[in-house]
Amino acid sequence: MTDQPSFDTLAVRAGIERSQFGEHSEALFLTSSFVFENAAQAAARFSGSDGGNVYSRFTNPTVQTFCDRLAALEGAPAGIATSSGMAAIMAVVLSLTRAGDHMVSATGVFGATMQLFNMFGRYGVETTYVPLTDLDAWRAAMRPNTRLLYVESPSNPLTEIGDIRALAKLANEFGAMLVVDNCFCTPALQRPLELGAHIIVHSATKYIDGQGRVLGGAVLGSESYVKDGLIPVLRTAGPTLSAFNAWVLLKGLETLSIRMERQSANALEVARWLAAQPQVSKVHYPGLPSHPQHALAMSQQKTGGAIVSFEVKGQGDAAQRARAWATIDGCRLLSITGNLGDTKTTITHPATTTHGRLTPDARRAAGIGEGLVRLAVGLESPADICADLARGLAMPIEV
Ligand SMILES: Cc1ncc(COP(=O)(O)O)c(C=O)c1O
Repeated sequence: MTDQPSFDTLAVRAGIERSQFGEHSEALFLTSSFVFENAAQAAARFSGSDGGNVYSRFTNPTVQTFCDRLAALEGAPAGIATSSGMAAIMAVVLSLTRAGDHMVSATGVFGATMQLFNMFGRYGVETTYVPLTDLDAWRAAMRPNTRLLYVESPSNPLTEIGDIRALAKLANEFGAMLVVDNCFCTPALQRPLELGAHIIVHSATKYIDGQGRVLGGAVLGSESYVKDGLIPVLRTAGPTLSAFNAWVLLKGLETLSIRMERQSANALEVARWLAAQPQVSKVHYPGLPSHPQHALAMSQQKTGGAIVSFEVKGQGDAAQRARAWATIDGCRLLSITGNLGDTKTTITHPATTTHGRLTPDARRAAGIGEGLVRLAVGLESPADICADLARGLAMPIEV
């Protein structure tokens, strides 16, 4: 490799350490534990004075290759891999907080993320929710015991954009950490550490796998945070990524950049088409100039990404839900599923699925109405995706 290999080169080559067999593809180390030459070496490995592999809950070469490659792509010094995106977020909160601490999170985050933060309330870690785009509200919510600020940008499912540079500055002012869930963009489109963020979390289940096969997650940050904050959580609590899943995710990283580019282009075409449909009242897509934070989005990320949400027309909640469900049910090509980031386009009704566990008030505060439909645009032809949506939008409804 050259001294400073490009993103595309790192995506296929970073982190590889060949075994004695000289394999070309990354080796898959399916082993729970590792053997030692003698008791003294075992003791040294367990104490950490010898840095070799010990037990796959916290050391595995395939998982390490995945961490190293993703860290290289994010421009991060280090990282850990976890069993899911939620496990990654849990590891961050466990590593940064203790009873009596406080966090500030955007209101518009994945439903389970909000549930998790609320669960931490039971253990004395309180969360204040503020609108992602209201910087004054973020400032007003800060307290001396605020340890972390949490954002998704773009957010799930409304694709709101957080001003990562401004939020990082605010975090620095208060000695807190800005944590960015970079799941919707991935490092192929956005590198939050370069914008000043301190920690990145990923649901690798989404675009990093990219083909809907496995669950996984990751946290990336400074060497010292990973070593002293995250690895003790991984070693003790065990929210670990399996070696097999790490291997699958490594294969996902190899094609990440070209998938993100093509899926973004497809999403832009679908978003433009949706904006012209009479049954649609609003399209949420950061790549459209009509998005309220289009300029900010384009200053932080390469494209608008591949998530497009839209609102269907209807008088009142019942009519909107009926129209949204009819649209979804009328599609024959798109997959009705909660996952996103797949090469196959997925369609979701957030209010009754991914965000269904939130209270109606929390859903309202997050702007998730009954008429909202989320698309994660894949690699099918945009013309076929639009034809399928046209079929759904034309479905008759009974209210
Ligand atoms: C933005 C975002 N973050 C985190 C998660 C959680 O990831 P996982 O399902 O891998 O636990 C999701 C899942 O949909 C998500 O959309």
